[in-house]
This record gives sequence, structure tokens and C-alpha cells, in this order.
Amino acid sequence: MTVAPAAAPAYDRADWASAFRNVGVELDGVELTAARGAIPPELVGTLYRNGPGRLERGGQWVHHPFDGDGMITALRFAGGKAELRNRFVRTEGWQAEELADKFLYRGVFGTQKPGGAVANAFDLRLKNIANTHVVRLGDQLLALWEAAEPHALDPDTLETRGLSLLDGVLKKGEAFSAHPRFDPGHHGAPRMVTFGVKAGPRSTIRLMEFSTGGELLADSRHSFKGFAFLHDFAITPNWAVFLQNAVAFNPTGFVLGQKGAAQCLSSKPGEQGQFWLIPRSGEGKPLQIAAPEGFVFHHLNAFEDGEELVVDSIYYDDFPSIGPDVDFRQVDFETIPAGQLVRCRINLNTGAVSKELLEERTCEFAMVNPERQGLEARTSWMAVAERERGNDPLQAIKKLDLTTGEGRVWSAAPRGFVSEPVMVPRPGASAEDDGWVLCLVWNGARCASDLLILDAASLDEVAVLELPLAVPHGLHGSFAPA
Ligand code: CO
Repeated sequence: MTVAPAAAPAYDRADWASAFRNVGVELDGVELTAARGAIPPELVGTLYRNGPGRLERGGQWVHHPFDGDGMITALRFAGGKAELRNRFVRTEGWQAEELADKFLYRGVFGTQKPGGAVANAFDLRLKNIANTHVVRLGDQLLALWEAAEPHALDPDTLETRGLSLLDGVLKKGEAFSAHPRFDPGHHGAPRMVTFGVKAGPRSTIRLMEFSTGGELLADSRHSFKGFAFLHDFAITPNWAVFLQNAVAFNPTGFVLGQKGAAQCLSSKPGEQGQFWLIPRSGEGKPLQIAAPEGFVFHHLNAFEDGEELVVDSIYYDDFPSIGPDVDFRQVDFETIPAGQLVRCRINLNTGAVSKELLEERTCEFAMVNPERQGLEARTSWMAVAERERGNDPLQAIKKLDLTTGEGRVWSAAPRGFVSEPVMVPRPGASAEDDGWVLCLVWNGARCASDLLILDAASLDEVAVLELPLAVPHGLHGSFAPA
């Protein structure tokens, strides 16, 4: 038997790397028309995106794009038209560095201040760069960064109101996750469920539930043994599901000015991660169950199935990190672990866990219809590589049937690179896949960003808007209906 050689990658590295740049403009309500197709008149609301918008200062590049300052892009849809706005979050660090035109803070992912280890040693301040996610809560837009409190912004103008303690819920500097989950109404009205982690030899998770108006409805704290590295979680009607990866944290390099704090994380080979399952009611003991080997940043969804809890996550073989001497724009995709969608079934009575591969293709940023959050979903949408095997940048959107494994793909290759897809249900829809998928696409040919609207069911292109804006490869975002 002969094995066909894997197809060559379908992209040019220069196109991919061209998205790493500083955002030089802030647009204030630019009206857009579709370059192709037409904006659906029933699509009404605002797509918010967050991600690093400043990657270089005074000739020095960040060590990793995750160290870039948060910039919000907003696209407001109404009446078949769209309006574009973008604005940096006016964090304390951003303002000071804009004036100084150089890095004044170290980055968690390895960016150092000028002057080498001597200038960086013992400077243990963290710069809240507000670059990871953006969500609507009450009359605020929250720019999130998991190690500290959120920044509140005006949802219309994107003007920064300042750091927010959420009406006294948080203490100054308290960790507040960048991955809230939106319960569509398992306990009556919709809620935002989120958490904060205080990590140490014993770690504490604070689980919080808010009304959509921003009122705190539930609040509980749970301690576990081990240094917690928790970026995301999942919810069901009754459980908050965390996956604690088997990682060790040795801060010596950070303290001595040689590494960023996140670079001091390393995987513990041979050791297993743990599922930490916390009852949302606040009553009953949390469960701790050994997890399959591997590393997880993001979960797709979770649901309850009799005595089993089912969790779908994007698994990596190992912790994907960029070493201190590597330029992130030169990273060799073939040598870093690829993400794959995996389903774990956890038996809550026996603690047995089974693992099933749902999608072999490299993927990230997966989501279900927001109405299926915490329930079994038939369909998922995710960003995938163009090639069916091998690790490459994300260039396509896949719709995956989680029951049959069948899929459809829309591709931006060879010159386009996708970001996290956001599924927006059509108002009044009954079918799970009735709606649109919105995605910012880096267009390597234009060296600018396109806003793509796909039909969520067929993945047919509905419209493409060519933005007068170049948005670097980003992180997370959300859609706020009008
Ligand atoms: Co994330």
C-alpha cells in the first residue's frame, strides 16, 4: 500500500505575516456597502471584535502578538447597511506607552522592556492590555483580559470609561476571566456566567453569575490543589466545567527578567490534567476527575446526558508556546502542536472518562448556536486549516454536524486568513443552523480586512464587505442584538 504525500500548504507565509502590524487609524462610523452580495436586512445588531492592535513601539516588536494592546472593532448592522468603528482601549499602559513611544511594561507572553534582563528583573507589574474578548453587559461594553478587572467602554462610541469593578463585585486588580459563557435561559432569564482565578499551590476559582443587566445573581468560591491555568470553561444547566491542564509554573525566569510570566508555564509530561466540576447552584461538593492527556485552551460546549457530562474541547498534544529566541512571524507551523476537536464523556458516578475525536482537521475558535449553550447541539462552526491534515494557519470556516461528522467548508485560501466565526441566529428562527456566520478575514491581496457574512446552514457567501481598515489576527468577539 502506498500513502499519498500530504498536500503542500496552500498559503504564502508573507500573506499570513502581513496581518501583524500596528493599527494606525481610529474610524468613527464609516458607512460600508457590500463589495459582493448584500447585507441581509434582518441582520440587526453589532459585531464586536477584540484583539491586539499595537504590535511594535519605537522599532521594537512584541515577543508574541498576545502582548499587543487591545483594539475594538465594531460593525453595526441595520436596514441592510453597516457602519464601522474601531478604537483602542485607553488602558493606563497604552496611554503611557503612546506618550513614551516605547514599551514601559513587560508582556505576559515575553515582551521585554528595552535594556535587557537588568532593566526587566524584579519588575513584576502586569499590564492590563484588555485585548482578549469583548462582551455586552448591561449598558457597558466590557473589554476583557483574564488576569485583571475589565475595562468598561461605551457600546456606541467605544470610548473607554475606565477600569470597572462591576458595581463593587470585584476588588481592585482582581482576576476576571476573558471567557464568560452566556446561559440562554436554563434558569429563567438569560445570564452571563463567568469566573476569576487566584492561582497558587492551591488555586481558588470564583464563580459568578450576572443578569444581562449586570446584577450579580450568584457568587461562590472553590479551592483546588495545584497551580490553576484556566483560560476558558463550559457550562451546562447544572455545572460549570473546568479543565485544569497538567502544567507547572516556575516563576524564576520571570522574576529575573529573562521570560514573560506565561513563558514560565511548562507541561508536566506523564501527568494528567483534571476536570474540576462545580455545581452552579453553589450547593454540593465540586468533583475532581482525571482528564485525558493533552492541553486545552478552549471548549466548544458542554451538556448533560443522563449520568454523563459531555464536554467538547479543542485539544493539543502539548502546550504550544513560542520560545524566548523565536520571532513569532517566523514560527514553523509544522513543529507546533495542532488543535483538534475532542469529545469527553465524563461519568459522574464512576469518574470514568471516554475520549472521541470529532474533527481531525486543525481547528480553533469553535462555537454552537448561542441558544444551544449548555445543551446538546447538532451543529458547530469553527475556524479550520485549508489542508485536511497538518498544522497551518486558519484559512477556512467549517460547519460540522456533531452527530454524523459530516461537514461543509468555506475557504478564504490561498490569500485569506480567517478569525473566530460568530454564529448569529436569524430572528425567529427555529432551525439550529438558521442564521449567519460573521467573520473578519485578513485579505492578504488587499493587506486589509474583509467582513464576511455566510449563510450558517449552507455556508454560501451572503456578502463580503471590504473594510477600509487592517485588523491584525485577532482573538475573541461577540454579537449584541439591537
Ligand atoms: Co480564548
